[in-house]
Amino acid sequence: MSTPRKQVILGAYLGGVNHHTAWWHPEAGSQIDFSSFEHTARTAERGKFDFFFLAEGLILRERAGQIFDQDIIGRPDTFGVLAAIASVTEHLGLAGTINATFNEPYELARQFATLDHLSGGRAAWNVVTSFDPFTGQNFRRGGFLDPADRYVRAEETLNAVRALWDSWSADDIVADKASGRFLARPDAGKFEFSGRQFDISGRFTVPRSPQGRPVILQAGVSPQGRDFAAANADAIFSPYGKLPEAADFYRDIKARAVAAGRAADDIKILPSASFVLGDTEAEAIEKYHTIRNEQVTGQTALILLEQIWNRDLSGYDPQGPIPDIEPDPDAPPFIQGRAFIHQDRFATVRRLREVSEAKKLNLRETVIDQFERGPIVGTPAQVAQRIDDFVSGDGSDGFILGSHLVPTGLDEFVDRVVPLLQDRGALRADYTGTTLRDNLGLPALRSATVPVDA
Ligand SMILES: Cc1cc2nc3c(=O)[nH]c(=O)nc-3n(C[C@H](O)[C@H](O)[C@H](O)COP(=O)(O)O)c2cc1C
Repeated sequence: MSTPRKQVILGAYLGGVNHHTAWWHPEAGSQIDFSSFEHTARTAERGKFDFFFLAEGLILRERAGQIFDQDIIGRPDTFGVLAAIASVTEHLGLAGTINATFNEPYELARQFATLDHLSGGRAAWNVVTSFDPFTGQNFRRGGFLDPADRYVRAEETLNAVRALWDSWSADDIVADKASGRFLARPDAGKFEFSGRQFDISGRFTVPRSPQGRPVILQAGVSPQGRDFAAANADAIFSPYGKLPEAADFYRDIKARAVAAGRAADDIKILPSASFVLGDTEAEAIEKYHTIRNEQVTGQTALILLEQIWNRDLSGYDPQGPIPDIEPDPDAPPFIQGRAFIHQDRFATVRRLREVSEAKKLNLRETVIDQFERGPIVGTPAQVAQRIDDFVSGDGSDGFILGSHLVPTGLDEFVDRVVPLLQDRGALRADYTGTTLRDNLGLPALRSATVPVDA
C-alpha cells in the first residue's frame, strides 16, 4: 500500500507593523480595522487554510527612546480580534500568540477555552516567552524573569492551563430529565495545581471545550525553546524558511520530540514565509526586488542592524560597508520591544561581513539579502511546486504565509496557487475535520460533546 501524500499545512499571518508590510502601497489598508482581519481570514478560509495567525506585541517598540514611526499605529488585543473572526468564518483555525511570562494560567485557560467554545473547536495558542524585560514594565511584576527561567515558567504555565482545561470532562454536564435541569457532576471543574510559580486551586468556570485542549504552537529557537516545544507543542512557528537551516531545524525538532516520547509526526514545523507571484518568473523576480527595495530603506537597514549591534548606527552610510565596530551586547538595549532571534551577535556580524564581501554588497544591500523570510518567488505553478517540494522533502510540514500587502495580499495566492496545490493533491479540496486539531491531523483528544438530549 502506498503511503498517503504529505499534505501542506497553511496558516495565514496578518502582519502587525514591521518592515515586511508595504504601508506605502496604494492598496494598503488598516491593520486595526476589523475589515482587514475579516478580509484576510475569509480569504484564508476560501483557500482551505488551516488557520489564521496573529503575532503579539505587548509594547510599542522604541529606538533610543523614540517610538518607531509605524508602531504608533499599534496592535489590538488578540482575543477580541479572534473572537470576532470566529463569527465570520466556519472552519478556519484561530491562532493567537500570547505570552506565558506575563499572564496567569487561570486567565489563559479561560480565554482559550472560551475562544474554543465560541469557534466550535478552532482555537490555538502560540506560546511565547518574550525576549526583553521592557515588555515586563507594563505588568505588575515588571520584567522579572531571566532568560533561563522563562521556559520554566512557560512549562509550568502550560501544565497549569492543561490542568484547568482537564478539570471538566466531556460528560460533566448532564441533562436531568426528571427535574428538567442541567446538572454538573460533583467534581466538575475542580482543580488543584502546585509548582514553583503557581499554587492554585478551586473550580474552573469554563466547561470542557470542543477540542478539550486547544492546539499549542510555540515560537522561539533557543535550545530551551526547542526542548519545550518538542515536549509540549503541536506545531512550531519557525523562522527557518530556507534550506539547509530549515531541514536542520526540522530534523532537530523531530528528534527532540521522539526523545521526549512522542511520535515525530505529532509536532508540525511551520516556517514563516512570504511569496511574490508573476505571470513569468522574470516578472516575479523583478516584483520581488521592487518590494524588497521599498521595504528596506536605508534607515530601516540601519535599524535592523542596530538590533544586532545594540548600538546607535545612525552615523553610518547605508550605501557604505557594514560597520567595522563590534556589537555591544552588555550595554542597555538600544532597540526595545522586538523579538530577538540572533543567539550570538558576534557570529551574526561575522556572517553579515562575509556575505557583504563575497557578494560585493553594501550595508543596505546586505540587509536586503539577509533579512528576509525565505520568500517564495515565481509563477503560480513554480510557487505551488516549491511549496509542495519543500514540504515533501521535509523542509517543513507547511508554512505560515504573510504578504507585504494588508489586507488583500493573500487574494492572489488563494486565486492562483491554491488550485494548483489542490490539483497536486497537496492541499485539501475541502475541510474534512470539525476542529482545528482534526484538520491539522493531530492525535485526537477526547471529544467534549455534551450529551444533552432535551
Ligand atoms: C518566528 C518567531 C516569531 C515570534 N513571534 C513573537 C510574537 O509575535 N510576540 C512575542 O512576544 N514574541 C515572539 N517571538 C519571540 C518569543 O517571545 C520567544 O519566546 C523569544 O524569541 C525567546 O525564545 P528563544 O530564546 O527560545 O528564542 C517570536 C519568535 C520567533 C522565533
